[in-house]
Amino acid sequence: MIDRYGPWAVIAGGSEGVGAAFAHRLADAGLNLVLIARKPGPLAETAAAVRAKGVEVRTLELDLVAPDPVKAVREVTDGLEVGLLVFNAGANSYGHEFVTGGLDRFQGVIDLNITAQLALTHHFGALMKERGRGGILLVGSLAGYMGQPQISIYSAVKAFGRVFAEGLWLEMREHGVDVLELVLGVTRTPAMERAGLNMDMPGLNVAEPDDVAREGLEHLADGPVWVAGGNYDLARKRAGFPREKLVAGAHAAMKRMLPKPS
Ligand SMILES: NC(=O)c1ccc[n+]([C@@H]2O[C@H](COP(=O)([O-])OP(=O)(O)OC[C@H]3O[C@@H](n4cnc5c(N)ncnc54)[C@H](OP(=O)(O)O)[C@@H]3O)[C@@H](O)[C@H]2O)c1
Repeated sequence: MIDRYGPWAVIAGGSEGVGAAFAHRLADAGLNLVLIARKPGPLAETAAAVRAKGVEVRTLELDLVAPDPVKAVREVTDGLEVGLLVFNAGANSYGHEFVTGGLDRFQGVIDLNITAQLALTHHFGALMKERGRGGILLVGSLAGYMGQPQISIYSAVKAFGRVFAEGLWLEMREHGVDVLELVLGVTRTPAMERAGLNMDMPGLNVAEPDDVAREGLEHLADGPVWVAGGNYDLARKRAGFPREKLVAGAHAAMKRMLPKPS
């Protein structure tokens, strides 16, 4: 792992849930880490926990949707040999019917999942290409396989990420850089718990952050897309045709999981 993707890894969204699980696994493998997130508390906590494993850790408190996130990231990473970028930040920050929702709020979902993801991938990807080695792991979602009401923009940005990863994988593989879109289903993260999702619904396949992070790192070289948590058949079904019944059926299942309006 360290020969191929070290000595430094950057985790955008590296303080909680899946991002923190990546940090622990990469530290166990001996990689030094740059962790990026907004809330200082969880960031400091995860940094201390992984530093205790004997690796170097730098933290950056940054909202990735702020203008020019690369400038802030470069202040912490210039001069480091970053062999792995994990772009994990990106859970839905705004759910609403599209036409009555706030365009600026939808824009925030796009800015994080598309603009910031592209900016960091562009910066670190170019350096990896020059070196002729490295890895880029983008965290995606099963939501990106079909549109859903209230989260139509989130579904669309996750579809963008997956298709982007496929093209990038083709471009980078001849330069020794692995690219993987790691597709997650429902995963027990602090963000999901704060959103009040009912994860105990019978029949729901809920993954644990450490399991999906392990799968992602194990399959980093098996791009362009890896569907984690045993959801491969579901992803394949969701990608199928005809669309009308598929989309309506998935929505009915999703409604059972959402918190009841109070
Ligand atoms: N959890 C699920 O059920 C699920 C299902 C499918 C896909 N996914 C995908 O898995 C990834 C992780 O999701 P998650 O549930 O852990 O939630 P998340 O809200 O994306 O949080 C993950 C990490 O990103 C940081 N983060 C979030 N927004 C940020 C921003 N604007 N700027 C900088 N850092 C930011 C968070 O810390 P701060 O909040 O302190 O910034 C945290 O460390 C996402 O890409 C999501 O789409 C999750």
